[in-house]
Amino acid sequence: MQDKMLTHQITELLHKLDALLVAHFYQKDEIVALADLCGDSLELSRKASQSDKNLIVFCGVAFMGQSVKVLAPQKRVIMPRLACCSMARMIDSDYFDESIKILESYGLSREEIFPITYINSNVDVKAKVAQMGGLVCTSANAKKIFDFAKAQGKKIFFLPDRCLGENLARADGKSSSLLGRDEPQKVLSSDVICYDGFCSVHQLFTPNDVRFYRSKFKDIKIVVHPECDPNVVEMADFVGSTSQIIHYVRSLPLEQKVAVGTEFNLVNRLRPKNGDEQTTFVLSASKPQCPTMNETTLQDLLDVLRAYEDNKPINEVFLDAEIQKWAKIALDRMLELS
Ligand code: 13P
Ligand code: SF4
Repeated sequence: MQDKMLTHQITELLHKLDALLVAHFYQKDEIVALADLCGDSLELSRKASQSDKNLIVFCGVAFMGQSVKVLAPQKRVIMPRLACCSMARMIDSDYFDESIKILESYGLSREEIFPITYINSNVDVKAKVAQMGGLVCTSANAKKIFDFAKAQGKKIFFLPDRCLGENLARADGKSSSLLGRDEPQKVLSSDVICYDGFCSVHQLFTPNDVRFYRSKFKDIKIVVHPECDPNVVEMADFVGSTSQIIHYVRSLPLEQKVAVGTEFNLVNRLRPKNGDEQTTFVLSASKPQCPTMNETTLQDLLDVLRAYEDNKPINEVFLDAEIQKWAKIALDRMLELS
């Protein structure tokens, strides 16, 4: 009843303010149900920035709202929660500079390094990457961006997700190393140098989980996000972004059993039961819940809309003009290629 009232008030305000409500797939069901636009990081940044609405209400984590503001600075972007992806917090512009200094101390020059930052990073990191000639990738276009980076004939520095970096390298038969963990010799001889960041949610899926489901159901398909550990990814039948996972799983007959390694909100919504039989499973005995994605509530959404209506906006995304300019270069380079 309470939710119904909130939903009604939110819908009215969205209409009155002529706003676009955007939600990432990991948001709670009640938020996703209200959204005008739902998608993976690539789709959301592209479609929200190209929308004809001036006000974007973004339910997701901070780097996602920032990406829209970077690509469409003329728009107003407000977020019911300024929740931050924990992986994105593992690097900032100082850590980026320090990493480059370490690589220089190993004997690499800045000109020999080609940085790629996963979109799950703060805007200041994207700006730094652009200044070194690099660009952004998302889980949906990572392979394309990686191929482009290889063609530059430089040493690829992939940040902040060590798993995605290593997964890209492995899939291409290339070697990878971990900055700060591996010896300088190994770092210098590897094709891809990875920053030591990770997603705590996707770390929950292990090779034992895959073995468990394969022994329980002979023909089960294992489907995972590329932020999972490389040893899990190697055992999977399908690897993709959140949108690609949805597309793949929904294309399978309902009787086909699947165990999915990504955030539980998405997995639970994937498809109905096959009659009485459950055929879609979360690939973990524990609950893979992204704490920050799950912060946003209907009440937060109503509060942010009311504050905007009262001309006292809260949680609006503002960016430094110089950082925005450079971050846009990194994102535009990616969009041109994808
Ligand atoms: P997608 O771009 O695949 O939606 O992934 C975003 C994310 O944060 C996954 O953890
Ligand atoms: Fe970040 Fe992981 Fe949450 Fe995705 S699931 S937003 S990578 S913490």
